[in-house]
Amino acid sequence: MRSSDDQDSQTPLTFESLTAAVGRAGIRGIEFHPEIGSTNDRALQLAADPSISTPFLVVADRQSAGRGRGTNAWWSASGALTFSVIVAPTRHCSTSPLPSQLSLAAGLAVCDVLQKKAPHHDVRVKWPNDIYLSGRKTCGILVEVPFTAPNRAVIGVGVNVNNRFEGAPPELRQTAVSLAEATGQIFDRASVLEEILASILREVESVAADASDLRERWAASCYLTGRLVHLETPAGRTVGLCLGIDSDGALLLQNERGPSRHTSGVIRGIE
Ligand code: BTN
Repeated sequence: MRSSDDQDSQTPLTFESLTAAVGRAGIRGIEFHPEIGSTNDRALQLAADPSISTPFLVVADRQSAGRGRGTNAWWSASGALTFSVIVAPTRHCSTSPLPSQLSLAAGLAVCDVLQKKAPHHDVRVKWPNDIYLSGRKTCGILVEVPFTAPNRAVIGVGVNVNNRFEGAPPELRQTAVSLAEATGQIFDRASVLEEILASILREVESVAADASDLRERWAASCYLTGRLVHLETPAGRTVGLCLGIDSDGALLLQNERGPSRHTSGVIRGIE
């Protein structure tokens, strides 16, 4: 960790700097790209190849066409971490784990690491797949299951580490933050990646073995619980007090019409 005025803040990631770090985290194969459209797109291609050993990492120093949920784009600048890890969670029963549970588990894993990096800030998980640091988005997660390899999943993670939002699109300047901006420190991205990967791989196996405590563990870090949430669902808009999540990952809301569960939707407002 160095101070944020260090000139070295945009040191590019290299294959050499990454291989040892990610090996220690339990990664069995790595593809590094100085620049790529989307690491998730590449990981989805690779995941369809049975000769690829998992967990396999696709990591990029820069992403030019990062994807978020739905039709959203993921904007990133130099100094961010953008990667996708292909996992094949051990199947303990025919239904486990659900992609939504993997997404929540990955969120908890990243949240845990970012909280340690920013101990003076409140780091929380925002349903379904964001990490908020002192009320601003610092990480987004996109879990996808390859069509031709349904036992595998691609966990795509974008973390705002050393990047800055000065030159970002206006809508992001007020809503997003990087670890460096929040803490005034510059972080070694290879070490942050190592810690996040180790944490994700632990969580993935844990949720595959037993997802029964996911709801309770999410509750401890949930950004939305107790807030009034405006949710846009395929069936229309709804507003309700957030009661947390269900064990399958559904968002639980309560309003004058009673409790409701939502397995999909976009949060349009929080009060
Ligand atoms: C979201 O906020 O809706 C999820 C954003 C996920 C972004 C990451 S960056 C690495 C990986 N590659 C992508 O194209 N998207 C994910």
